[in-house]
Formats: sequence, C-alpha cells, structure tokens
Amino acid sequence: MAGNRSLQNRSTAVMQRCHEAPDSLNYFPTPPWATRALCEWLESRTARLPFSSVWEPACGEGHMARPLGEYFQFVTTSDVHDYSQTFHDQGRVGDFLVTWDHSPKIQAQGVDWIITNPPFRLAQEFIETALGIARQGVAMLVRSAFLESRERYDGLFSKQPPTDILQFVERVPMHKGKISADATTATAYCWLVWYPSAYGSRQHDDAPRFRWLAPCRARLERPSDYPRAALAPTPLFDEAAL
Ligand SMILES: C[S@@+](CC[C@H](N)C(=O)[O-])C[C@H]1O[C@@H](n2cnc3c(N)ncnc32)[C@H](O)[C@@H]1O
Repeated sequence: MAGNRSLQNRSTAVMQRCHEAPDSLNYFPTPPWATRALCEWLESRTARLPFSSVWEPACGEGHMARPLGEYFQFVTTSDVHDYSQTFHDQGRVGDFLVTWDHSPKIQAQGVDWIITNPPFRLAQEFIETALGIARQGVAMLVRSAFLESRERYDGLFSKQPPTDILQFVERVPMHKGKISADATTATAYCWLVWYPSAYGSRQHDDAPRFRWLAPCRARLERPSDYPRAALAPTPLFDEAAL
C-alpha cells in the first residue's frame, strides 16, 4: 500500500504541471454556504473555535478554505494538485495521506481541526489520517451514502464512530471542476464530525448523534461565492441604428 501511494505521489507531481485537476483527483468543489453551515453549528458548541487553527488538506481552489477563514483564526491549506493559478492562497502542494508530505509547520505546531470535502475514493483514508493528527476535531463532508457499506462499517464506523452526523435538509450541489449558483443535484450530503480528544471518555458503543442541518442556504449564500457569470460581449455597434 505504501508503495502504491508513493507511486501515485510521483505521478501527481507530473500532473501538477497542468492547471486542471486530473479526473482521478475527484475535484468537486463545495459551495461555501455548506461550510458556513458546519461552522455555525461548531461555533454554537465550541467557544474556542475563533481561536483555533484549521487545516484544509484537499483545498482545491479554496471554496471551503475561504469560508473557514471567516470562523477560524488560522487556516492552513494544501492539496496534492497545484491550484495556485486560481487559488493564490494555496499553501503546500502535498499528498495528505503521505506523512512526510505534511508541512513542517503542521508537523512542528500541530493543528486543532482538520476539515475538508475529501476525494470520494479516498474518504476513509482521509478520515483515518485526520483522526491521527487533529487535536480538537475532524469534520468531513461526504455523500450520505458513505454511511453505508460493510467495508466502512468494519474498518471505520464500528471502531471510530463519528460523534455527530449532520444531515443537510437541502441538497448541496457539487459538480466536477466548478461551482455554480444554478447547479442542482440528486445526491445527498452530510457532515461527519469527530472529537478525537473525547475518545478516552466515550464509551466504545456510544451512538453518534444525528442532527438535521435546517434549511440555511438562502441565509448563508453570497453572490461573491460564485464566479461572475460570463457577461455577454458588449456590441461595438448598435445594430438597430445601422
Ligand atoms: C471533492 S474535491 C474538494 C475540494 C475542496 N476541499 C472543496 O471542498 O472545495 C477533492 C480535492 O481533493 C484533492 N486530492 C485528491 N487526492 C488528494 C490527496 N491524496 N491529498 C491531498 N489532496 C487530494 C483534489 O485535488 C481535490 O481538490
């Protein structure tokens, strides 16, 4: 497994030369209102959130990192692909699943929270890795169908169940490579939240708390969250007058 990962890492170094994320990276950016919904919920439970640090380790073009910066004092970003042409604040280019690829700052100082929308095919590995690093909490945005599957139950949920499952009542439209205010989706999403430091005090079979995230899109969405729609070119001549 370790060999495969380092091979993948070398091949992504080649991929980084082109700007567009290769299909294999599962680049599906998150509309910012979905991150604000999580942060509002965390804020209502964690008084120290504004003073905490957060790492977005699969940041893409920053659609989740930017709203995280509205709630957390320190935000670190990284991604295995180089998105810096469109996300100027991208930090390190590195594979989250390869320990030696983590930034020296994270290795030296640690981090309170790890929050991301992981690539779907690596979501379980992202969660397991994050749980070994974050001091206060881990939150992962996943398809609700991620809660199914014998493999994930055996390997993850039966051993480290999330503390909270936050199911969106509204759909969170996510599409390959871009966000759009007009997008729609048939896929349901939820946030899974873990408090790793609470594991010592939790009973092994403590049931996760299930909550609905009440409708909030209209309140949390801003026009500046989306790229401006391409304007129709201004005609050089008023054709009617010719
Ligand atoms: C579903 S997208 C989410 C992007 C961003 N978190 C957001 O919510 O807008 C998944 C991201 O994971 C990145 N990625 C894929 N494999 C990775 C890895 N091994 N380490 C770090 N990032 C990875 C992709 O480049 C992509 O940006």
